Amino acid sequence: MLSTPAQSQKSVESFSWQWTKQTVIDSTRTFHRRLFTDCGLWFDHHDDKVIADVCSGNGRHVWALANMTKAVRIISVELAQPAAALQRQIFAGEPRVEVIQGDAGLVEFEADFIYLLGAIQHVEDPLNVLKRVINNLNDRGELVVSFYMVTPATMALEPIRSITKRLPKSLLWALSPVLAPLFMVRKAGREMGFKNARHTAYDWFGSHQYQRYFTEPEIFSMFEMAGIDPSNIIKLGKGFFKLRAGEGARLDDTIHTFGADAK
Ligand SMILES: C[S@@+](CC[C@H](N)C(=O)[O-])C[C@H]1O[C@@H](n2cnc3c(N)ncnc32)[C@H](O)[C@@H]1O
Repeated sequence: MLSTPAQSQKSVESFSWQWTKQTVIDSTRTFHRRLFTDCGLWFDHHDDKVIADVCSGNGRHVWALANMTKAVRIISVELAQPAAALQRQIFAGEPRVEVIQGDAGLVEFEADFIYLLGAIQHVEDPLNVLKRVINNLNDRGELVVSFYMVTPATMALEPIRSITKRLPKSLLWALSPVLAPLFMVRKAGREMGFKNARHTAYDWFGSHQYQRYFTEPEIFSMFEMAGIDPSNIIKLGKGFFKLRAGEGARLDDTIHTFGADAK
């Protein structure tokens, strides 16, 4: 039987270096906004549930979920071996956290809520990852997923990336303060601060193997191919979606009349 080979370590080497050799800062206020408010969730939504963060980098969101929720189990999936090893050290004393080093397109687990943030554009086969992640949801389990989008701004930055992705990691890191202000034009970027914008700049322009930009019709077609009912999709923002597994709402176009003409 043919099985899909896992995405290579080399494809994520630059992320691995970023997450293990550099420092990221975030406040609980930022985590709360990113993991709850922006996703249309109350802070206690995850209590008593199994939560997963897929493509979790250095585990900053796993840390926030462990510290800010009463989730019973928090699963972290990360391909880069050094980043996963770092997470295992960080969460050694946290029995609720399980770190799985592996390819998001292959790792099987069961969760009530999954985050897939800032990552699907960097995987080798986005549809395969989306299908696997959705299959890992329990019935009525929810997924929040963000995509890099095709926009005039992202298309204008792409020629710069064709040069920067060839630079040695440490040189690009040294240049990232110059590129960081590009990611502080939007309010959310300014709120996260300069150090965070520097990481975003490195993320955007780095030498990782895969980086794609999506259109909304492409995204909806991927959701359909992954078996998501259209009524189970909520657009939270540009390139930012919440999905639910399981049966959708029963909708039709019958017109109902109210008020003076109602029968
Ligand atoms: C831009 S980082 C985002 C990390 C994290 N979600 C965050 O926001 O802090 C993307 C991460 O996805 C990981 N990654 C890429 N392809 C993957 C795959 N197929 N399976 C699991 N992780 C993967 C990379 O190693 C990297 O750590």
